Amino acid sequence: GHGHPGLIHRFLDRLPFEADDPIVTLQEGSTPLVLAERVSEIVGAEVYLKIEGANPTGSFKDRGMCCAVTQAKKEGAKAVICASTGNTAASAAAYASRAGLKPAVIVPEGKIATGKLAQALMHGARVIALRGNFDVALQLVRELVAEHPIALVNSVNPYRIEGQKTAAFELVEELGSLDALCIPVGNAGNITAYWKGFQEAGHSPMMFGFQAAGAAPLVNGAPVEKPETVASAIRIGNPARWEEAMTAMTTSNGRIAAVTDEQILDAYRFLAANEGVFCEPASAASVAGLMVHGAGDAGRVACVLTGHGLKDPQTALEQAGGVVPCEPELAAVESAVLG
Ligand code: F0G
Repeated sequence: GHGHPGLIHRFLDRLPFEADDPIVTLQEGSTPLVLAERVSEIVGAEVYLKIEGANPTGSFKDRGMCCAVTQAKKEGAKAVICASTGNTAASAAAYASRAGLKPAVIVPEGKIATGKLAQALMHGARVIALRGNFDVALQLVRELVAEHPIALVNSVNPYRIEGQKTAAFELVEELGSLDALCIPVGNAGNITAYWKGFQEAGHSPMMFGFQAAGAAPLVNGAPVEKPETVASAIRIGNPARWEEAMTAMTTSNGRIAAVTDEQILDAYRFLAANEGVFCEPASAASVAGLMVHGAGDAGRVACVLTGHGLKDPQTALEQAGGVVPCEPELAAVESAVLG
């Protein structure tokens, strides 16, 4: 085919699939790795941004979803379901529609970013707006699939982890080695996946996981009943892969720390205005954490930017400067342009 092959074909020898499986792909993976010169200067290390927003539906979830949906199709499933803060829903809906499976997604009512909702609906998902948060949604969906033949494609599904570990392979291939990884942590599937990928590739960078201060159960050491943060993607109080995240952190000599919404939004604006990289607020937690807490004595650091800024236009417009109104005359344009 044309272009890059999608990650199952690219990493076939390290994934639980065969070439003649019914592979469902949108040519995910092989995302850009961009040197962040301004961030590097500030933190005194060589800092790279892994731009996962460049995946087909605009987030890293596509890596896991191509594998989870391929496996569901292989097993003869007719429908897939997930609980989601938005990105998993968008990705599950896209891959399910491509595979000819029916998607259903359960999201916290009023708490997912506009772009993600639009994606899930456009791809034909049945979107259930739950009057409860993500943790409640995940609990209910786990009970539901115990009673019905619907494939669960949350990151409790091991095929999600298999797909997402490939981002670590790409980092090792491109950088040779790295000293630290900075990553936002919500349900803790992605940090689990990166750690698995690094270990399989024979590397062990320090794993720095960052949570929003209002949704930081791993930092507090206890579930958060009512998680709150502007970073809606990681508004999670009781991560499913809690133990795995803590193991990655301790084994790698890393750290799990919190960043405030203000620190997240500072990094969010900084990346857009100074690096030309527009990510969603949750993604900026990785860079916020690096800027606030550092990354030990790491010389070379990769920050995972998990989702695209266009996912959440509302937060962007609230955070950005306003437009300059102007009459259609040269003099008016002149003063408008020149300030
Ligand atoms: N960044 C973004 C943009 C996310 O959407 C998520 C998770 C994370 C980081 C955290 O990853 O959960 O593996 O620790 N989003 C899930 C969802 C929960 O439903 O879209 P994690």
